[in-house]
Amino acid sequence: MSNIIAIAIEKGGVGKTTTTLNIGAGLRQLGQNVLLVDLDQQSHLSRWLEFQPDGRPTISELIYQEVSHIHSNNYVDFIRHNEKENLDFIPANKMLGGIYAILGADGESNTVFSRIFRSEFFQQYDYILFDCPTAVDNLLVSNALQCSNKLLLPVQAELLAYEGVPAMLQRFMAIKQVRDICPFIQGLLVTMYNGRTNMSNEVYNTLFDSYGELVFKEAVPMLQEARNSTETRSSLVGRRSSKVGQAYMAAAHEIIRRNAE
Ligand SMILES: Nc1ncnc2c1ncn2[C@@H]1O[C@H](COP(=O)(O)OP(=O)(O)OP(=O)(O)O)[C@@H](O)[C@H]1O
Ligand SMILES: [Mg+2]
Repeated sequence: MSNIIAIAIEKGGVGKTTTTLNIGAGLRQLGQNVLLVDLDQQSHLSRWLEFQPDGRPTISELIYQEVSHIHSNNYVDFIRHNEKENLDFIPANKMLGGIYAILGADGESNTVFSRIFRSEFFQQYDYILFDCPTAVDNLLVSNALQCSNKLLLPVQAELLAYEGVPAMLQRFMAIKQVRDICPFIQGLLVTMYNGRTNMSNEVYNTLFDSYGELVFKEAVPMLQEARNSTETRSSLVGRRSSKVGQAYMAAAHEIIRRNAE
């Protein structure tokens, strides 16, 4: 069975996409077979992976196909490959903005992703990571949460950022219909951490007090190199000199260790 991880939190610009790319690239470098799925109509992840419109179907058509019961066991046409990161991905584009009506038309609208990504074809992947849009209260995110067996929350080291954590966890529990959320948390990753500010330390400590070992030990530092990597379209995990890359690599190691337990 693939490990399916939703990277989600109800806050924009906190590093969800940066986390998806770098954790994905890190897991790949550690020998895992990885698929990244862009669920944001802004298509930042797709663009980061150098996706160009190519006339082939995207995540929107994949959803449409499932809802229309056009069953296919061959999903190859939806998958692109980025050579630089050696990563498979399913791209998104603006059309995804119109997908809610289609998802809503399904008799079991929360299970569309489960039907797709839990099918035999996708079992070839050790890890499937969903880069979620910021909202939690929408059908795309609820599909991603329903389908995932784990949730990874990037939490920006900033006042109020951690207040989004309990809300996200409650949403996940309601969708999964479980009382104990802990087995479903892949981890909380503190992002944009600035060790020189009290605020960053306070966020880390508050999270650690509430969630203990579920918080990844290494926070991702707030550094210009992360912003530059968005411009140059490459992950940072392969670079020894990159502190951001090191933190993401440590998280990738930790994910593999936790899932092997
Ligand atoms: N550790 C970091 N240090 C400094 N800048 C960062 C860091 N991580 C991400 N950024 C920058 O912050 C911005 C937002 O990051 P990102 O796109 O990953 O967040 P997001 O949560 O996916 O945003 P959105 O809500 O738009 O989907 C980007 O410009 C990115 O380069
Ligand atoms: Mg994003």
